[in-house]
Amino acid sequence: MPIDKIPKVTIPYLHTKKQKGEKIVALTAYDFPTAKIVDEAGADFILVGDSLGMVVLGYKNTIPVTMEEMIHHTKAVVRGAQRSLIVGDMPYFSFHLSVDETVRNASRFLKEAGAQTVKIEGASKKRLRVIESLVEAEIPVLGHVGLTPQSIYHLGQFKVRGKEIAEARKIMQGAKDLENAGVYGVVLECIPMELAKEITQRLAVPTIGIGAGPHCDGQILVFHDLVGYANGYLPKFVKRYADIHGSLSKALDAYAKDVKEGVFPDHAHSYHLKKKEILQQIVKPNGEG
Ligand code: KIV
Repeated sequence: MPIDKIPKVTIPYLHTKKQKGEKIVALTAYDFPTAKIVDEAGADFILVGDSLGMVVLGYKNTIPVTMEEMIHHTKAVVRGAQRSLIVGDMPYFSFHLSVDETVRNASRFLKEAGAQTVKIEGASKKRLRVIESLVEAEIPVLGHVGLTPQSIYHLGQFKVRGKEIAEARKIMQGAKDLENAGVYGVVLECIPMELAKEITQRLAVPTIGIGAGPHCDGQILVFHDLVGYANGYLPKFVKRYADIHGSLSKALDAYAKDVKEGVFPDHAHSYHLKKKEILQQIVKPNGEG
């Protein structure tokens, strides 16, 4: 079967793509209709990112996102996607307390929600041990280094990481350590493209870039940013391919105007009785009146 016609994307398929130099296409999605359209567009994997906290639930950052919210949204995405591999994002504090709790939380993405893998931010020594335990428990893990949004209070702001030698070395080492811990791929977020290129060349597993330049093995963007549905600050690395917010605003303004002016609903958008006599019967039951 041609490699792009496989019925369901698998991790070995992603590895084959890297070996063949074919780019991996990924996007986030958080609900059924979006998952369906992203899947139909041929995304190799869909990340149910904890970015949903900001773009769908209206939180200021990803810190408040809970396991229950992640499972709820992941289930909807799984129902919408046929071919794409589904990655559930481990939310803040779902993998910090103990290995046991982390494995239990991660397993919920697979058993309850129907995802095939999970993503975890960071590459500290403790995080690597946790990732090894997940892999040992047959839970495939996607790593994530560079800008890790769950460290927002530690970092102070969302900005490019790895511009200085020490931090660049740390990010490169982190990616390598993640590979040794058994991840099947690594997200590189918001780092200089030169650094991303070096990391991509040194890893056997695919790198997936977001704000990391063109040399990564694949690319991911937040769906709402890409289609212009997010209403607010957009980082430099986002290319907007549509203006959904603008289109929706126009449509909703037109609807409100029509309702106010009595133009909607009109004859064509209303139901009708087949015979006038029926109405008379309704108004005067048994012909009385
Ligand atoms: O939560 C998310 O959407 C992510 C991507 C930005 C990689 O982690």
